[in-house]
Amino acid sequence: MKSRGKLGGGWSSLGLPAVFILCIFVFFLGFFGSSLLSQQVETEFSFHPRPRVLNEKEYEPLPRGDSGDDFLTTIPFQVLSWIPRAIYFPGFATAQQCESIIKMAEAQLRPSGVALHEGDTLESIKGVRTSSGMFISADEDKTGILDLIEKKIERATMIPRRHGESFNVLRYEIGQRYLQHYDTFNPAEYGPQKSQRMASFLLYLSDVEEGGETMFPIENGESKTAAHDFKKCRGLKVKPRKGDGLLFYTLYPNGTIDPASLHGGCPVIKGQKWVATKWIRNEVELY
Ligand SMILES: *[C@@H]1O[C@H](CO)[C@@H](O)[C@H](O)[C@H]1NC(C)=O
Repeated sequence: MKSRGKLGGGWSSLGLPAVFILCIFVFFLGFFGSSLLSQQVETEFSFHPRPRVLNEKEYEPLPRGDSGDDFLTTIPFQVLSWIPRAIYFPGFATAQQCESIIKMAEAQLRPSGVALHEGDTLESIKGVRTSSGMFISADEDKTGILDLIEKKIERATMIPRRHGESFNVLRYEIGQRYLQHYDTFNPAEYGPQKSQRMASFLLYLSDVEEGGETMFPIENGESKTAAHDFKKCRGLKVKPRKGDGLLFYTLYPNGTIDPASLHGGCPVIKGQKWVATKWIRNEVELY
């Protein structure tokens, strides 16, 4: 009786407002405590805010297979679009590598060609592609730079290098462009094909002061209705920067041509654009 009285007296001496504040405090402690905990769980298992930087001390390479690497590779990339599947690789090549490739190509540039559809004439294709270019394979490059680049593309795509055509090195000067087109050869337009281009890798060899973006006019299925307006530079635009890479897939995984892989090169407004393109086929050496 006495003690109960004492206890009761103790609580009541704290006062009702103090008990109320204590309750609120305990509530918020629980509330924030649990959200803190769930945030921790989230960073552990999701990709946000950014994946943890790989560190060899944290991730030991696994024992490799006979054809594998015994080291970890980091190739930073950004998914630019899922429709089409387009990936950007900042700093894929060094400035010196880019400059050497340009030097190699410069002496052998010719006006670029286009594949003819049925019914195309030299007159009708005039102005479609106004760049100059040349083809060079990694074997032909005695400096070994194209060999390195090709190996890196192989790693980034996991498509063996034998599937790649020779590098097509192109130069676009002011006003030069490539109207929107497909890199694939639709059998309905070009007749039966022994193999198909499944992906395209563009390595930008120069910065362009203005213009020269690679554009995907129907990225995410948009502006399909404006298809007649084919000379406009619109949709997803990728700004060329020396050493950066752009990979996009031109076929769906099931082998059908991806209509969203339609792309072009916006006219160069200021500066010069140099790019090395590698088209990757779904079959080895059948073109
Ligand atoms: C191939 O894949 C695309 C995209 O998923 C799909 O829209 C198309 O219907 C498929 N074609 C065939 C022949 O399965």
